[in-house]
Amino acid sequence: MRRKLAAGNWKMNGTQASLSELTTLAAHHPSAACDILICPPATLITPASQTAGPIAIGAQDCHTADKGAHTGDISASMLKDAGASAVILGHSERREDHGESEDLVRAKARSVMEAGLLAIVCVGESLAERDAQNTLDIIGGQLAGSIPDGATGHNLVVAYEPIWAIGTGKVPTLDQIGEVHDFIRARLERRFGQGVGRSVRLLYGGSVKPGNAADIFAVSNVDGALVGGASLTAADFSPIVRALEAAS
Ligand code: PGA
Repeated sequence: MRRKLAAGNWKMNGTQASLSELTTLAAHHPSAACDILICPPATLITPASQTAGPIAIGAQDCHTADKGAHTGDISASMLKDAGASAVILGHSERREDHGESEDLVRAKARSVMEAGLLAIVCVGESLAERDAQNTLDIIGGQLAGSIPDGATGHNLVVAYEPIWAIGTGKVPTLDQIGEVHDFIRARLERRFGQGVGRSVRLLYGGSVKPGNAADIFAVSNVDGALVGGASLTAADFSPIVRALEAAS
């Protein structure tokens, strides 16, 4: 059985004052029936990991190398040392803002796995790609390109995040979500074998809110969510966690 995962991506939001949201969230879910992960900005990883109790803390990016002359960058092992247990990789905002290629995302994911952390690899189509009915081709290419060999259910999570649904309030239909999640599952089983393919958790991301979470969590092969805006406050994220617990 795959343990469900409610993951929050704070993006470039949050200061020390935001840590109170984490303490509130932890107090609401002392022993949740699903995993809870918050990925704050790197500046908050250490204090967050010290205050979050049962909530795991992750990062939003890392470098491919373990250490060296890379000004401004942070390696997976340094994130682990700071208190992170997971790293989001290949988010569409990084692919766009920083021109991240499949090869780069794959190398980053490999470094995360080698550091013993969970790699959360994001894939997703643009609206133009969906309109041109290229969604599954695009997702297939991203899966092949950005997931390294050696993936397992312990070191890999895949997040399906249609770019046009991120931060827009627009959400694919439940059928569209199910179609892509079933496709991702089949591709993982084909590449890594049935046992591994079935053990990797698949998250949906893009405008997940308290009001739509339960419906999304009922879709086949949806093992949780990667939540942006609605993860910033305990008031919004907690009902999403509860909806996932109810689906567990
Ligand atoms: P959103 O972001 O929930 O604000 O749409 C999701 C994400 O980018 O992970």
